[in-house]
Amino acid sequence: MNTARILVVDDSRLAQKMIRDRLESAGYAVVTASSGEEALAWLQREVPDLVISDVVMPGIDGYELCRRMRKQPRLANVPVILLTARGGIAEKVAGFEAGADDYLVKPFDPVELELRVKVLLARSRAAAAGEQKPRGKVISAFSLRGGVGVSTVAVNLAYALAKAQDRPVALADLALESGHAALMLDLRPRLSWADLAQQEAGGLDIEIVQRAMARHESGIHLLAAPPSPALAELVNPRAVSTILSMLVEHYAYVVVDTASTLNEVTLAALDLSDSILLVLAPELASLKLASVTLEVFDSLGYPASRTLLVVNWTFPQGGLGQKHIESALHKSVQATIPYEKSAVVQAINRGIPLLQFAPSSPAAEALLELARQIAPVPAATPPSPPGSPRLGPLGRRL
Ligand SMILES: Nc1ncnc2c1ncn2[C@@H]1O[C@H](COP(=O)(O)OP(=O)(O)OP(=O)(O)O)[C@@H](O)[C@H]1O
Ligand SMILES: [Mg+2]
Repeated sequence: MNTARILVVDDSRLAQKMIRDRLESAGYAVVTASSGEEALAWLQREVPDLVISDVVMPGIDGYELCRRMRKQPRLANVPVILLTARGGIAEKVAGFEAGADDYLVKPFDPVELELRVKVLLARSRAAAAGEQKPRGKVISAFSLRGGVGVSTVAVNLAYALAKAQDRPVALADLALESGHAALMLDLRPRLSWADLAQQEAGGLDIEIVQRAMARHESGIHLLAAPPSPALAELVNPRAVSTILSMLVEHYAYVVVDTASTLNEVTLAALDLSDSILLVLAPELASLKLASVTLEVFDSLGYPASRTLLVVNWTFPQGGLGQKHIESALHKSVQATIPYEKSAVVQAINRGIPLLQFAPSSPAAEALLELARQIAPVPAATPPSPPGSPRLGPLGRRL
């Protein structure tokens, strides 16, 4: 895998050619610069995998090149080998102090150069791989039409994912003026988005954010909407982006319950979302608003695959059929949640997620199926024993 790109900086064309020939014959791509200035100009546009630089050059020398690279976050971790005719210990120390990773004294053995390049590249690749922490997924539920079941979907999805993963799931209630996820989970949070947003300018970290979250026995960690609508305006979109970005580094799933408006706060969450569950009831006003929403998402550059249609029957009959909805929206319906005469409202009134309150109700089963489509099913799951219900790993844990 020698396709790494190496920048060679040397004011001697002959030295450049020697190094280039050697590295190209070893399979590397080589770019050359004849001065520190030329190298820096190129480095403003590109990031190589490694830099080999002569120390003594007119103008910006190798040490200074190294120092300037280390000051720029995008170049700070690019390995640098310094080449020089000087072999004194003081020069080596100066090189390492400037941030060089290795040092070769001219005339050097080309085999040694190649070997050092190989070792440094392997080390920096390993470090980069170690730094890449897996990021969780942000899943938002949204509708421009109020009262269509966005919170029901968000809360039950968070519940299903927490149970399935057997580890906490973050639930962010961004319906800031009217959010009631805390009520739906019978939680009494002491702090909310408003408290955190006020602290955002002074520096937040994940521990502060987690201390503000109320914990549900299922493993849902809720960041609640403010207790009063008047506090909603304290929450700005920058705080939303910052906090959601922190959450997604620590939770496999961050589920967002949104307000039925496309304001800056909602957009901050939707911009960061991996999936958006666009919830609609099978009636014309909801369909019209879903269509407008899809147009907005398209103009915002969201890929079509980010949005999943969820039809929720909040009324018993007379609604639009699935075919009608799909042809109006030019998109297939991902999930349909049937009307539930009393279980949904009873669950809300008792502060228990529907999936816990009435797990075998058709609406709970549909919500569970939606969660299954979102949560990856572990490959090594043993098959169900004969006679057990036809539930996947998610269902069996509930
Ligand atoms: N499948 C369903 N069957 C019957 N009733 C339902 C269903 N889904 C939701 N409801 C009822 O619809 C009402 C609104 O639900 P929910 O609060 O989840 O919607 P929302 O879109 O979050 O509303 P809001 O815009 O006020 O935030 C609730 O009273 C709930 O009981
Ligand atoms: Mg709601």
